[in-house]
Amino acid sequence: MSVVSPETAELPPDLDAAIDAAWQQIRAAPGFLTEREGRFLALLAAATPARGTIVEIGSFKGKSTVGLATIAARYGTGPVVAMDPHTAPSATDPDLEGQASSWEDFTASLRRAGVAEVVEAHRAFSRDVAAGWSRPIRLLWIDGDHTYAGAREDLDLYLPHVVPGGIVALHDVLHDFDGPIRVFVHDMLASNAFGPAGVCGSIGWAQYRPEDGDRFASERRRLARRAARLIPLSSGAPQGTLAKLRYKLWRARVPHGTVLPAEWALRVTMPPEAAP
Ligand SMILES: C[S@@+](CC[C@H](N)C(=O)[O-])C[C@H]1O[C@@H](n2cnc3c(N)ncnc32)[C@H](O)[C@@H]1O
Repeated sequence: MSVVSPETAELPPDLDAAIDAAWQQIRAAPGFLTEREGRFLALLAAATPARGTIVEIGSFKGKSTVGLATIAARYGTGPVVAMDPHTAPSATDPDLEGQASSWEDFTASLRRAGVAEVVEAHRAFSRDVAAGWSRPIRLLWIDGDHTYAGAREDLDLYLPHVVPGGIVALHDVLHDFDGPIRVFVHDMLASNAFGPAGVCGSIGWAQYRPEDGDRFASERRRLARRAARLIPLSSGAPQGTLAKLRYKLWRARVPHGTVLPAEWALRVTMPPEAAP
């Protein structure tokens, strides 16, 4: 079932309540998402004008997973496919603080939120799940390995399965990790395969529009010019007080405020070639 009407990007009438409910679950789970980001992720799950699966790369203790799954359960849109080896394999992963794995906390979060049935969990690397993947994807949420090689690999492996009109969203584009910001600027904002794009909190997103993405090129270029300034400052923690100040200054110039549902519905519509 599509949550939004494919042609008009009409929003579900209970969207505000759905986002509130998702945020209550997100805030109760351990992990790394601000309220602005959590609510935006719920909006993406509920109001992406395309059909297909929601894929999450990098679940950690289930904070984003429970938000996506709360929306999927409410609207009956099928499972959220969540993949993570739960061993913090990348140098950019959060510290497990002595735990061998985040798996127990992850499954506890799902149970607490009452969404275990809606999540198809793969205790595996994204590249291993990709090897047997064939399902269409409407929302690709990348929050795994934050090195450039890792984030780029995730985009390369899964973008071929994203349906026109679907959304690719990357966490931590406004954080001092090297990968997400470079993938966002060089591989998404610079590509005419993508249409409207933006940043909310530290989530960089773009709609996959392989047929008419060029119509949005100047909009993407404007954002890319501002975001690209962060790249030389993003390889590891910015060094020195001056570099930190410069980073903060450039980051403030990348628009990354709250995205209201009504604004979303105006910007992110079903591309013509994807309408049934
Ligand atoms: C920043 S955390 C994810 C945070 C989570 N989305 C949340 O809302 O709290 C990154 C996670 O990515 C996982 N990870 C690292 N490399 C991965 C890969 N190649 N495939 C899947 N998961 C990976 C790590 O085990 C870690 O749990």
